[in-house]
Amino acid sequence: MNILAVIGSPKVDGNTYKTVCQIEKELYKKNEEIEFEYVQLSRTKLELCRGCYLCIEKGEDKCPLKDARESLERKMKQADAVIFASPVYTYNVSWIMKNFLDRFAYRCHRPEFHGKKAMVVITTGAVGLGFVANILSFMLGSMGFIICAKAGITFAPPHEKDEKKLQIETGKLIRKTEVFYKKIINPNPVKPSLVKLLTFRMQQKVFSKAPQNLADFNYWKEKGWLEKSENYYYKVQAGILNKLIVSIISGLIA
Ligand SMILES: Cc1cc2nc3c(=O)[nH]c(=O)nc-3n(C[C@H](O)[C@H](O)[C@H](O)COP(=O)(O)O)c2cc1C
Repeated sequence: MNILAVIGSPKVDGNTYKTVCQIEKELYKKNEEIEFEYVQLSRTKLELCRGCYLCIEKGEDKCPLKDARESLERKMKQADAVIFASPVYTYNVSWIMKNFLDRFAYRCHRPEFHGKKAMVVITTGAVGLGFVANILSFMLGSMGFIICAKAGITFAPPHEKDEKKLQIETGKLIRKTEVFYKKIINPNPVKPSLVKLLTFRMQQKVFSKAPQNLADFNYWKEKGWLEKSENYYYKVQAGILNKLIVSIISGLIA
């Protein structure tokens, strides 16, 4: 099993990296054969998104920026699971992580990572663990990642250091790592939530009406996802009630 850790902190040896190292240690305790690879976004040649929209409209191969995007995508596809880690910078993910998300924005339309298991890790000085973890999870979820666990640690400045809080959060980090591990070794396809099923149906509707030269249309067609009989990115039992709710809501919205 190989796990890729994408570190979105400008500090290569900062709190965020150290927190992921702790997760790595915990995972080794469970399985010594796990191979871990770190990608430090701050050391990766990933240029700033110019907002030209070419990746979304015409395809990612039309992106004018020639850098590590393609190799990063390959790494994420090849990994059995991915850890995404960012510090809280001004109540949000770091700019490095945000640029990473922007550079892969086309994956929200063409969710190639569907079913790929992931963990979100956030570090902060005081606030933001919850909502920054949620926004990052939401973004990654729309690219297809299944967020198996969200964890975070508060690294308060020395004069505000709260050992008890740090201990509690470290305990939580260990427990969340266990949850992550249990989920990544489970070979069964993850059952999608109602929101995920609905998102699939809505995108299916939008892309089936899209102009045929649009990258999204071709991608969805090639995958066979424009067929009405398809109800998710991969074969999974959706449940009768969920299917019914999706069909009612999507019918009302159409
Ligand atoms: C530019 C900058 C902005 C920050 N913004 C916040 C913030 O909004 N809220 C907060 O609680 N901590 C904030 N912090 C503290 C960091 O989230 C915290 O120290 C984090 O663990 C740093 O991780 P790193 O060492 O990997 O960079 C900020 C730190 C920096 C450098």
